[in-house]
Amino acid sequence: MALVTGASRGIGEACALELALRGARVAVCARKAEPLRQAAARIATASGAEVEAVPAHAGRLADLERLVEAVMERWGRIDVLVNNAGTNPHFGPTLDISPEAWDKTFEVNLRGPLLLTSLVYRAWMADHGGAVVNVSSIAGVNPALGLGAYGVSKAALNMLTRQLARELGGSGVRVNAVTPGIVETEFARPLWEEGPLGDRNRRRNPMQRFAQPEEVARVVGFLASDEASYVSGAVLQVSGGE
Ligand SMILES: NC(=O)c1ccc[n+]([C@@H]2O[C@H](COP(=O)([O-])OP(=O)(O)OC[C@H]3O[C@@H](n4cnc5c(N)ncnc54)[C@H](OP(=O)(O)O)[C@@H]3O)[C@@H](O)[C@H]2O)c1
Repeated sequence: MALVTGASRGIGEACALELALRGARVAVCARKAEPLRQAAARIATASGAEVEAVPAHAGRLADLERLVEAVMERWGRIDVLVNNAGTNPHFGPTLDISPEAWDKTFEVNLRGPLLLTSLVYRAWMADHGGAVVNVSSIAGVNPALGLGAYGVSKAALNMLTRQLARELGGSGVRVNAVTPGIVETEFARPLWEEGPLGDRNRRRNPMQRFAQPEEVARVVGFLASDEASYVSGAVLQVSGGE
């Protein structure tokens, strides 16, 4: 049974579908209920898997507690957790960010994955093992102009991944991360759509193109699976070589 946050579109939906196609029952979360319900229906139709939609804000403890309770009540286990929900409320020089935008960035990108992993660990994985995959970013590895606070939060998520792999390995819990480059989703549209910035970003990539969500999801599916049974603490670049 797999739980994926931020899964009503983009990389999260692709991850949920990939896990469903690999045979998992899946719970998906996002803030807006109706698009989430539609995504759950798409995933169920495409995979034949059981899919449950649980609206929740991935940075808020009360929502995350409700989410884990709902999943445990329905399925009684959580073998795979994909912390995918992320946000970037500020695009520009790092020193210009407002305290509110800084806090929101870290609430969703770092504190959320920490809180949810803790809840899932206590509810199931501590006694039964499991796999956690964090969707980070290449901006957490290489500094990118305009994405400073976001990059710092993702760099911290990379370290959280390695730290938790160190601490939870003895319970049979593997913790890994992927760091995508630019993926053609709504979130990153200004970075990849046609125009001077998109053209520059495309040329800068060693593969001269952007990623599709499925190309990230397949790596997440691998890291979540038994094929990766001795992979933990990995921060795997899925960035076309950037
Ligand atoms: N696209 C890229 O180029 C790229 C590159 C590197 C890393 N990433 C990372 O990949 C992850 C997914 O991004 P994406 O490109 O797939 O974005 P996307 O297409 O905009 O999808 C974001 C998903 O997350 C949900 N979401 C946003 N904030 C949330 C919150 N606070 N709580 C719960 N759900 C939330 C959205 O639904 P609601 O709005 O209804 O909540 C939606 O389902 C993020 O962590 C992002 O940092 C993306």
